[in-house]
Amino acid sequence: MSVTEFLASDDAFAQRIACRLGDVEDLLHAQVRVDDVVVDSTTAHLADAGGKRLRPLLTLLTSELGPNPDAPAVLDAAVVIELTHLASLYHDDVMDQAPRRRGVPSAQYIFGNSSAIMAGDVLFSRASKIVAGLGEKAIYMHAASFERLCMGQLHETVGPLENEDHIAHHLQVLADKTGSLIAAAAHHGVLASGGSDEVGEALARFGERIGVAFQVADDVIDLSADPALTGKTPGTDLLEGVPTMPTLLLEKYRQEGKLDAAGAQILAMLNEGHLEEDGRLERVVQMLREHPVLAQTQEIAQSWVDEALEFLAPIHGHHVYDYLVMFAHAMVDRMA
Ligand code: IPE
Ligand code: IPE
Ligand code: MG
Ligand code: MG
Repeated sequence: MSVTEFLASDDAFAQRIACRLGDVEDLLHAQVRVDDVVVDSTTAHLADAGGKRLRPLLTLLTSELGPNPDAPAVLDAAVVIELTHLASLYHDDVMDQAPRRRGVPSAQYIFGNSSAIMAGDVLFSRASKIVAGLGEKAIYMHAASFERLCMGQLHETVGPLENEDHIAHHLQVLADKTGSLIAAAAHHGVLASGGSDEVGEALARFGERIGVAFQVADDVIDLSADPALTGKTPGTDLLEGVPTMPTLLLEKYRQEGKLDAAGAQILAMLNEGHLEEDGRLERVVQMLREHPVLAQTQEIAQSWVDEALEFLAPIHGHHVYDYLVMFAHAMVDRMA
């Protein structure tokens, strides 16, 4: 079942979560507004454009594991996570020079790099203000996951050390830039609802691994999905030379002397560059879509989901268990 199908179903639990997600949405929209008509359109731009809201949904699901799932702190924690994610997207689109996000031109494309960066910082600050009301542990968790997110983006930017394994480096980047916040989304739900440290930590480990799975799958979706559904421009990473699992696998096969002709042609085109000219980007995207590395990447994503599910053992039999399993599968089995 997809997350959208879950939220639209007439299952009483799904309806309760959908209603809570509506509350998160209202709080989020209030939090992206600033008292300045010029700046307001920048800070509200991406929240208004849409987004899947997977992270706040995860916080709501894991809040079922504590005695007080209806505590206001749960909604605040969900908003903190989505605001942090949102802000990171403003910065990411500057770094990746991505023209589109959530089906609209990205913030820096409309308002320029400086405004997009500062709008992201305003949203990070808003998240910090809310988390200040959630207690010392929540503040520390928020700061630690934010630090890892930035370290992941930095390590992606600077690349691996000379003798470092490129795929291991890439997986660490994904755990840091994406896994850390999804781990925090899961952990904050347990903490805000008064759940135990043991369950909170197990759910953080689960979250981290589905986060890696999510990002690995994202690299496939960016190449293979319909841009009308993803709201992003296919091949943005290729254009900017950002390594992703499919191209890293091709490189690995080349080093092992196992690369096929189609793979060699893809790497040659990437090395030659000028992808923005004469439909070259579209051709490389099409060749990658047809290459077995795409299915292999999807299998890697699935293996991270399988590993994640093992961390749900302490909550086996709980009413939210099956929904968390569904959520984990939906992270990789998606079209957008
Ligand atoms: C995009 O995240 C950034 C990644 C970590 C891949 P999402 O795919 O959750 O983006 P939205 O929130 O739905 O726009
Ligand atoms: C998104 O990363 C930003 C973070 C995870 C912090 P990517 O650059 O890989 O994702 P998209 O494809 O732009 O959404
Ligand atoms: Mg990006
Ligand atoms: Mg990026």
